[in-house]
Amino acid sequence: MQFLGLICFLMSLPWALPLEEGGSTLIPLKDIGPHIILGSDASLGQLPWQAALYLSNGTNSWFCGGSIISKVWVLTAGHCVEGATTGLALTGVVNVSDQSTANEIYDMIVHEEFNSSTLENDIALVALRSPLKFDDNIKAVTLGTQYLDPNFRITVSGWGTKHDDEVELSQVLRYVTITVISNERCQEYYEEGAILDGMFCAMTSRGIIMGTCQGDSGGPAVIDAETNPVHVGIISFVSAHGCESGRPSGMGYAFAESSVQNKHNLGPRIINGEEAALGQIPWQAGLYFLGNNITYWFCGGSVINEEWILTAAHCLVEVQEGYAFTGLVDLNNLDVGVSTDASYFVLHPNYNAATLDNDIGLVKIKVPLKFDENQAPIALSEDFLEDGTDVTLSGWGVLNDEGDTETANLNYVNLVVISNNECNEYYEDFVTDNMVCASSGTSTVKGPCNGDNGGPVVINATTNPVLVAIVSFISDQGCESNLPSGYIRTASYRDWIREETGV
Ligand SMILES: *[C@@H]1O[C@H](CO)[C@@H](O)[C@H](O)[C@H]1NC(C)=O
Ligand SMILES: *[C@@H]1O[C@H](CO)[C@@H](O)[C@H](O)[C@H]1NC(C)=O
Ligand SMILES: *[C@@H]1O[C@H](CO)[C@@H](O)[C@H](O)[C@H]1NC(C)=O
Ligand SMILES: *[C@@H]1O[C@H](CO)[C@@H](O)[C@H](O)[C@H]1NC(C)=O
Ligand SMILES: *[C@@H]1O[C@H](CO)[C@@H](O)[C@H](O)[C@H]1NC(C)=O
Repeated sequence: MQFLGLICFLMSLPWALPLEEGGSTLIPLKDIGPHIILGSDASLGQLPWQAALYLSNGTNSWFCGGSIISKVWVLTAGHCVEGATTGLALTGVVNVSDQSTANEIYDMIVHEEFNSSTLENDIALVALRSPLKFDDNIKAVTLGTQYLDPNFRITVSGWGTKHDDEVELSQVLRYVTITVISNERCQEYYEEGAILDGMFCAMTSRGIIMGTCQGDSGGPAVIDAETNPVHVGIISFVSAHGCESGRPSGMGYAFAESSVQNKHNLGPRIINGEEAALGQIPWQAGLYFLGNNITYWFCGGSVINEEWILTAAHCLVEVQEGYAFTGLVDLNNLDVGVSTDASYFVLHPNYNAATLDNDIGLVKIKVPLKFDENQAPIALSEDFLEDGTDVTLSGWGVLNDEGDTETANLNYVNLVVISNNECNEYYEDFVTDNMVCASSGTSTVKGPCNGDNGGPVVINATTNPVLVAIVSFISDQGCESNLPSGYIRTASYRDWIREETGV
């Protein structure tokens, strides 16, 4: 909290465009008309994906905008986050004086190919410590997937200064609609070669100065803001001549080469499960991961001792950073429970992404857990899991459901193990001896869904719980097809787990 307050706006803001003045293609400053950057005050709930980010490196503080893309991730510009060590995010407000929703930034990741001199890949993600509760004023925005043609109308928003000589931010969120221009045309205003493929520019068509200014960096550019908003760009730069120079301002695309992707396309939660009570499934872990090229995803895991969480290998492919939640059931209520950075990831050496064979992995967390009634390790089965056994699987599987307002409560469901032969009738010999399948055993659709991946499957859940499997795959017909779901038999990997963890 300590770096909230107006002083931070007076610091040097890192918005400034590194592009130098001069260069043969820069055109002279034109008569630029009225000296205001036109814009309107946004009303509460009008741009519910907008976030305000207060960032600090310990000595300096600065401000940026951002876009909510899931309950835990806010998209912003790479140059906003570069060098920052701590931060807070405000969401669901238009007036930044209201800091009651301030949410600590847990982690920040800048695109690994971000270039601070060219502003290529000017993208970053920040992870929020407490997942957002979506409502009318706080919502995720859908990410666009296409390059924009000139003349598209986009809405940019932020608390940026209204004038070049104004050093305070606007108290109230402002927005303006401007027009995309071709990169060729934009290039005329900037140094040679400055406008790269992953960028686009926008300006007003009428010679009135409108656009983005200091403090707007990282904020959203969206199309169809009122009807069907789609995020198309991250506010990245203005001309070195200033916000009021009449030059187009620049945005970075948040996809393609410089992609922000949710790798696992998280879907709905466990189908037709029941909500778990706190302490009912104390071995359940929630795992957030950040990967290469600004990808992010969520998986489940099983606590097997103070330091190790067992999960699926496919959850760990290309992981760069991760963190784990334990000791809670409601991801909206992180006051209960513990979160800790993941420091070390182990994929099974024979994991095969095509066949999903050996889809098992381990996460080592930085701060060892202290066990209590809400978080405790699960015993690992040594025995072959027999057909017909009743099993219980659990997971959140919900973290990125856009617009979802339900509580993110841990769910569980009971399934019955079926034989590998029976399962292979559905999966054409995909199911190896290291795998096992389970089905609802009834006509009621029950089972895991995306985001439950890596999560625990146990026997004797209420009496003497023992881990027998890890959630690995579902049918490509979808979670609600009621086809059997596929798991990794942990007993097949008992020796490997022992070697890696000592458990
Ligand atoms: C914070 O950033 C400023 C400006 O870049 C720099 O001068 C200062 O050394 C940084 N402080 C720390 C603790 O890194
Ligand atoms: C923003 O909120 C503060 C504190 O509630 C209030 O004093 C101020 O007038 C508000 N600003 C605007 C422009 O509404
Ligand atoms: C940034 O891009 C410039 C121009 O292409 C290049 O010379 C420089 O090495 C790049 N910097 C980094 C850190 O990649
Ligand atoms: C993603 O990251 C990898 C590894 O750093 C890199 O080789 C690759 O070119 C990047 N881009 C895409 C689109 O995958
Ligand atoms: C699970 O419970 C059943 C019935 O209570 C019992 O027979 C069995 O031994 C238990 N299995 C394990 C692995 O504890």
